[in-house]
Amino acid sequence: MESMTFVLFGSTGDLAKRKIFPALYNLYANQKMPQKISIIAVGRKEMSDSDLQAYVKQSLQTFSRSIIDDETRLADFLDAFRYSRFDATKIEDYQSLRDLVEQREKELHIPENRMFYLSVGPEFFDLIALNIKESGLGSTKGWKRLIIEKPFGHDLESARLLNANLTKAFEEEEIYRIDHYLGKPMVQNLEALAFANPVLQALWNNENIANVQITASETVGVEERAGYYDKSGALRDMFQNHMLQMLMMTAMQKPNKISANDIRNEKRKVMESLRPLKKEDVGLQVIRGQYTSGEMNGKQVNGYLDEPGIHSTSMNDTFIAAELWIDNSFWSGVPFYIRTGKRMKEKSTRIVIEFKDSANELYKDQNVKVAPNLLIIEINPNENVTLQLNSKNPLNGEIEPIKMNFTSNQKDVPEAYERLIYDAFRGDSTFFAHWKEVELAWEWVQPIIDAFSEGSVPLMQYESGSYGPKEAHQLLQNVGFKWWLDE
Ligand code: BG6
Repeated sequence: MESMTFVLFGSTGDLAKRKIFPALYNLYANQKMPQKISIIAVGRKEMSDSDLQAYVKQSLQTFSRSIIDDETRLADFLDAFRYSRFDATKIEDYQSLRDLVEQREKELHIPENRMFYLSVGPEFFDLIALNIKESGLGSTKGWKRLIIEKPFGHDLESARLLNANLTKAFEEEEIYRIDHYLGKPMVQNLEALAFANPVLQALWNNENIANVQITASETVGVEERAGYYDKSGALRDMFQNHMLQMLMMTAMQKPNKISANDIRNEKRKVMESLRPLKKEDVGLQVIRGQYTSGEMNGKQVNGYLDEPGIHSTSMNDTFIAAELWIDNSFWSGVPFYIRTGKRMKEKSTRIVIEFKDSANELYKDQNVKVAPNLLIIEINPNENVTLQLNSKNPLNGEIEPIKMNFTSNQKDVPEAYERLIYDAFRGDSTFFAHWKEVELAWEWVQPIIDAFSEGSVPLMQYESGSYGPKEAHQLLQNVGFKWWLDE
């Protein structure tokens, strides 16, 4: 891997402390670092290099997954870090940052390969990118890359504007848009499950599949993020990005080859075939909900409107369920159901493929109801693949569902951020969101945003600790299905 400079904007923030520093350290511990690396942490606070190194050390001791038992190696890792105090609005600060980057490149004999990681508030994304260009930081003899966190815009228009600004300073191939769900091992595994198994591949179409369900239920509430979350809601926070990315990964067709371009092309095609929603129809296909108080793990918790920082009249969605249709020859007639919400009964991210129950016809004279075959892919917190089949119970001769289960109980699996940063080091953008995917996702979501803001879709309440509003269950019951989580 080529030697490089890694510039981290927002280095004193929460994400850097919890995820980015530990990810860098774990890559280092697993010999997955570039040969030589200069890490420049940038932040608003006043700090010396040794203050920064102490701060990074503390973050590793608290959040690193690998044990830190070799002080010499740790010191060697920390030695790569320098700090640059910085105000994003001052061009002279970019120039001193550039001087420091260049000075370290000379000291360490590193070519001018520069990776800029924006772990900052979204209001700074384009400002920093444009100033990287303006100050000459981005004029390198080697390559340059930009890693950018979510949210990528708050609607279609703002996302387009942001992208137009970013692409004044970086080419699309240089932009790595993080969606941490794409870094999850089971999400990365979807492609292998579907395409490396001819047995499943043969069934992966509308002749055999009755419906597909993608759930991300969370037990946490709004926590300390009221300011952000109350403006974003489940629709922007989870649905537009993570949920639609999982949809693309599940529904994409076999690529010509396993390469970033081919996979992202197939993902884009899924979004292009997604049947657009008309604003007037949003209420028929989308359920929005907000949690009320309830019991979670034996403890009474606040409703959303009583959460600190949330206005008592907020109409924000903390739950979304939707029915989607992909109008192409593989999926036509197969509904996709997506739901995500906070303060639900359990933490579970999973994809369930329900196969058609053609066996019932055969057994109807016996009065036997055969359960559908299911393929259950659990993404988080457990990583499992389960195939539910039917089999006769030898004791009573009744046909019952049985489960064939694979559990990935590997210890020390790299975390999403480790995988993604490693990919970005190597210039592999397969598991980063391409602009086209992001834009098409916003295009699909925009009528929902409009309908919500006009108040034309009722906000349903659901009790904390439940599986969401009853209307989300009716969405499936109306057509004879049910969610395969809340049994
Ligand atoms: C983040 C959202 O992107 O994903 C959070 O902003 C959410 O609101 C989180 O809790 C869920 O991630 P995970 O990895 O815990 O499923």
